[in-house]
Amino acid sequence: MLAKPKVFVTRVIPEAGLERIRQACEVRVWEDELPPPRDVLRREVAGVEGVLSLLSDQIDAEIMDVAPNLKVISNMAVGFDNIDTQAATQRGIPVGHTPGALTETTADFAFALLMAAARRISEAERYVRAGQWKTWGPMLLMGQDIYGATLGIIGLGRIGQAVARRARGFDMRVIYNGGSDKAARELGAEARSFEEVLAESDFLSLHTPLKPETRHLIDAEALRKMKPTSVLINTARGPVVDQRALYEALASGTIAYAALDVTDPEPIPLDDPLLTLDNCLIAPHIASSSVRTRTQIALMAAENLLAGLEGRRLPHCANPLVYNE
Ligand code: GLV
Repeated sequence: MLAKPKVFVTRVIPEAGLERIRQACEVRVWEDELPPPRDVLRREVAGVEGVLSLLSDQIDAEIMDVAPNLKVISNMAVGFDNIDTQAATQRGIPVGHTPGALTETTADFAFALLMAAARRISEAERYVRAGQWKTWGPMLLMGQDIYGATLGIIGLGRIGQAVARRARGFDMRVIYNGGSDKAARELGAEARSFEEVLAESDFLSLHTPLKPETRHLIDAEALRKMKPTSVLINTARGPVVDQRALYEALASGTIAYAALDVTDPEPIPLDDPLLTLDNCLIAPHIASSSVRTRTQIALMAAENLLAGLEGRRLPHCANPLVYNE
């Protein structure tokens, strides 16, 4: 019998995914809550043919070069900015990711952040728990209406479109910059320049991958173009926003509110000034975290991994150039 291929899984993932991998591979799992430190990662990948990584693992050329037998890197996320895909392509290593399965769950969460920011839900909850609720207040925690407001979407891709669909149910006007014009027509979303989206949005939701050209897309200048009543929602990647500039904008009233599922860095350090602001809601990168979706993306990551180990084309490949097509 042929020896099973060796793989390293960088954290405990939903059991269905691990089970699928165990059927075909000899698996080592990093069981800590925290990601494997760099030296551990280097050591663990050295002898393996496959790695299942998470978005908190930096998989770069140095890691690939200590793993001469590496046939596949499978990232359990739709985003893959943590992986040097160019280095992987140069080495003929396909990189898997998990698009599609988490679209609706992530859009649900983006909308939950939008609603929580508009209606100040986390502030209200803190208020109650702190014993500050003394009576019904005619002006207590007044927020903003969602219905009838303008939602700006930066990046009308899979997740951006799913957010736009939710917005329609709330009678919102949807404008967008970047993404599918065809989908926009079906959704009744209006194309605008980046500057127009900034200026016209009551809620601005980011759905762009992190690339060199989207790093600090929302900087001080962009924030200055937004309405003072506007709300910024980020479920994309932390570095798409210049966090220092965001702090200044929230503290000075340049914009009204931010609701972030992603920060730069992650986790956000406890002394980050954003954490001192009442008008900033921060979640620990959980937009795709429903039981069903996390199980499904674990299975997708397992399928990508197994395909790569068997030399088959990955069902979801982030660097298709590796196939020389
Ligand atoms: C989560 O952020 C993902 O990219 O799947």
